[in-house]
Amino acid sequence: MRHRIEVMHGVNFDVLGSRNVAHYGGLSLTELEVKVKAFARALDMEPSFSQTNHEGEFCERLHRAGESADGIVLNPGAWTHYSYAIRDALEVAGLPAVEVHLSAVDEREEWRRHSVIRDLCIGTVQGKGVDGYREALALLKEQLES
Ligand code: DQA
Repeated sequence: MRHRIEVMHGVNFDVLGSRNVAHYGGLSLTELEVKVKAFARALDMEPSFSQTNHEGEFCERLHRAGESADGIVLNPGAWTHYSYAIRDALEVAGLPAVEVHLSAVDEREEWRRHSVIRDLCIGTVQGKGVDGYREALALLKEQLES
């Protein structure tokens, strides 16, 4: 059976195409999702996508992730750096997860260098733009098939 992957975007990803192009590239979220879908299909994986600007909704999505997914790719945006609620909800999900950031968060402002979810994830991919999602999916595939 194809591995089902929930690809989750958090706060401010609905306006991706109009954010800082130097850090995040010029793709809209829809365009990014088209690319991620193609990466997933090439790996014989089945992605589903969600985005919200509401922290509680992101948490509730994580609570339910196990009902429809085998693994999670998540880019919570700024919540990454401080949301213990999302960290706890990711623990509830109990699925293998990979943290992705379009930009190289470890090379930016001090406050972006800390991630409250990193140690719960099987890997982190950052600074590779949309290609980072391909790497994240490949990591999950490896984990799910080991
Ligand atoms: C981001 C990095 C975060 O620091 C930032 O708040 C974002 C996007 C990234 O993909 O590079 O919203 O998660």
